[in-house]
Amino acid sequence: MRRFVGLLNMLKISQRANKVIASPVRKFLPLMLAAEKRGVKVFKLNVGNPNIAPPPLLLKTIKNYQPLSLDYAPSPGIREHVAAWVLYYKKLKINLKSENIIPTVGGAEAILLSVMAVTDPGDELIVFEPFYASYKGFAAMAGFKLVPVTLRVDNDFALPAAAEIEKKITRKTKAIIVINPNNPTGTVWGKKESQIIIDIANKNNLFVISDETYREIVFEQKPSSILNLPAAKNCAIVVDSASKRFSCPGARIGCIASFNNEIMAAVLKFAMIRLSAPTLEQYGLIPLLKNSTNYTEKITAEYKKRRDAVFNALQKMPGVICQKPQGAFYIIAKLPVDNAENFVKFMLMEFSYNKKTVIVTPAENFYMTPGLGRNEIRIAYVLSVKELKEAMEVLRKGLEKYKAKKQ
Ligand SMILES: Cc1ncc(COP(=O)(O)O)c(C=O)c1O
Repeated sequence: MRRFVGLLNMLKISQRANKVIASPVRKFLPLMLAAEKRGVKVFKLNVGNPNIAPPPLLLKTIKNYQPLSLDYAPSPGIREHVAAWVLYYKKLKINLKSENIIPTVGGAEAILLSVMAVTDPGDELIVFEPFYASYKGFAAMAGFKLVPVTLRVDNDFALPAAAEIEKKITRKTKAIIVINPNNPTGTVWGKKESQIIIDIANKNNLFVISDETYREIVFEQKPSSILNLPAAKNCAIVVDSASKRFSCPGARIGCIASFNNEIMAAVLKFAMIRLSAPTLEQYGLIPLLKNSTNYTEKITAEYKKRRDAVFNALQKMPGVICQKPQGAFYIIAKLPVDNAENFVKFMLMEFSYNKKTVIVTPAENFYMTPGLGRNEIRIAYVLSVKELKEAMEVLRKGLEKYKAKKQ
């Protein structure tokens, strides 16, 4: 028996598994459940799960699926589904061919396959912090290093000068990652910023991985892609997703799109190893990709109202600094607290107002540089305007109480 226990203790999981941090978005789940058990209603502003019904046509198309067997989809995607993506991009004035698009299991797999296609272990990717924290997990899984360029909330998360970005390039740098519209900042970079990034990439022989998961959710601009820029043709790899624009994160469909044939050939090899993206959902999304704007314009108008409700409320809170998001459905707010994680715990463990509290995500884990974002939170505005207004009132009361407690 003792020998058996000894053997068990010798089992070691990989270093890469040890490196992956717990999701900053989900790690407060036990505290949230405990609050709910005490009868406290928790406004959930921590997870970017759209609380909007998906287009009825998606579910209807899936229900009408005819074949009696549920086969693997082809690795390069179901032909009609890929053709629907081709049409979708055509409407954005991007003339991709079928072989320039491979459907993936959500944007998440599109990120994984893209980074695997451009990096070897030890290579470096430049990323603008704060950024979607899952990239850290992908870095640990694939063995590359993320090198951050810092953006600041008090500077509108503006793109630094090209020279500042170029300082981070080494012999090991393979690509620049851009998330546009951005999670967690809500920033939308236009043609000017995209051109600067593409110019840096072309000058230094780098790829650009452009994560455009939230493309349609833009409040002041028109939806666009880095692929609209002619100079992006060879270097850009687009990570795309149906999850947010069609409010269907559970459908698990995204795609990789690139004019670079070598990249597409590499991605196809990976896609064959992982077999295929979901069959039913590829079918379900065909009519929506062919005609997306009816739905996306409606939800974008709704997110804009939510953005305004949250931003206006935050602006009135003493000591809170934030920038008006131009897209996606997130906002970063700097709070007048020493440590946002302690504040989030306080909100869940000690505080309630009229038996209500709020869960948000501390922003520290969206940064690479230690110490940055310690007094910042990310709010996902994924509730109705009415609920968001109430949640902001609860947040304001919570901040007052927290400050009083600290004095
Ligand atoms: C910036 C960004 N990229 C990719 C994803 C992955 O989304 P999915 O795999 O559902 O397409 C998310 C999800 O929140 C995201 O915010």
